[in-house]
Amino acid sequence: MRLSQEERQMLEGQRGPAFRKAMEILCRLGEIYGAERMVPVSSVHMPGSSVIVAGEAGTRFVEETAARGGVFGVYTTLNPAAGDLERWSTLGFPPDVMANQQRLTAAYRRMGAVACHTCTPYLLGQLPRLGEHVAWGESSAVAFANSVLGARTNREGGPSALASALTGCAPAYGLHLDENRRGQVLVRVGCELRTTTDYGRLGYLVGRECQDRIPVFTGIPASATLDELKMLGAALASSGSVALFHVAGVTPEALTAEAAFGGRGPEQSLDVTESDLAAGSASLNRARGEPLGLVAIGCPHASVQEIREVAARLKGSRLHDSLHLWVMTAGPTRQMADRMGYTQAITEAGGQVICDTCPILAPARALVERFGYRSVATNSAKLAHYAPGQWGLPVYFGDLEQCIRAAISGNWG
Ligand code: F3S
Repeated sequence: MRLSQEERQMLEGQRGPAFRKAMEILCRLGEIYGAERMVPVSSVHMPGSSVIVAGEAGTRFVEETAARGGVFGVYTTLNPAAGDLERWSTLGFPPDVMANQQRLTAAYRRMGAVACHTCTPYLLGQLPRLGEHVAWGESSAVAFANSVLGARTNREGGPSALASALTGCAPAYGLHLDENRRGQVLVRVGCELRTTTDYGRLGYLVGRECQDRIPVFTGIPASATLDELKMLGAALASSGSVALFHVAGVTPEALTAEAAFGGRGPEQSLDVTESDLAAGSASLNRARGEPLGLVAIGCPHASVQEIREVAARLKGSRLHDSLHLWVMTAGPTRQMADRMGYTQAITEAGGQVICDTCPILAPARALVERFGYRSVATNSAKLAHYAPGQWGLPVYFGDLEQCIRAAISGNWG
């Protein structure tokens, strides 16, 4: 690989062992994927931010990197942690897990990371522009950055993201290069998308078909909101491993479908109808009458607008006392929800607005044991996909309206 003088100095150890190790990781990765050079990255979003993912070995590695003088050279944000860093005890998260989480968060902070612990850093101002190279992990955030913002990133793992945060560069392969960003599969959406969850249903269906190929959607209205596109990308990245999608007339590299294909035709075309969406939804809705346990909203982390909608739907009602409602979000978003009175409305109804964590990165089995949950209900296709494995529980999947109605009545209906 061709390295700049600064990159070579880091590789030779002139900036210390942490930077040498980081450059070794990135050069090795570049060799594997045939990169010829590095690209400078302007930001990093760190995937291995929960101890449930990092484990003891990963936590030690981050601590050692900090102890060896590691300092992040670019703006770095943290993905969700294993629990709410401030209210974990009240919420019943295990103290041993949270003690380890505090170690991991502290090590990242020592190196300069912003401990926002969210999978939607773009809602907090981590907003790369069109064509900007970044090194992000977390599949839903990667899909959003590449597709909705037009930034350029591969799906980074913990070690490569850490290495890029230190060095400020990433090997130039995959989605950093123009030729790998062209659409491959044409998806004609022939049905109305009525709710945010419909965007998740669509993403789940198309992700299964595309796997790691790049879909180009037509038929999605220009009025699609950021929350809807967020849900679409998260679902595409869970049933498949889609890291970039284009929506004709909506996302910045797809002023038209033809532009998104970059002069080539699609290698496959798909038509999505109302009944396809319903069938996709049915495959996620796997619970069969088990009592409702946890109702989880905010995967990806909820925006203020989504929290407001939950608060409005709960107004004047009380949750059924046999279940818990979690609305998951980032700390600063919760602060805004506090100020607007949405948090109060949700807690008065018996729910919780939880920060810093998510059901997939929390100690799920310990929580199931402690609270005796028998099922998870959600409006997120991504969570519905992963929850059976992570929580060992069947899932009820439906629109927000259905989830909130169920949380009040105690029945899925
Ligand atoms: Fe975010 Fe966790 Fe869902 S990281 S996308 S809330 S599984």
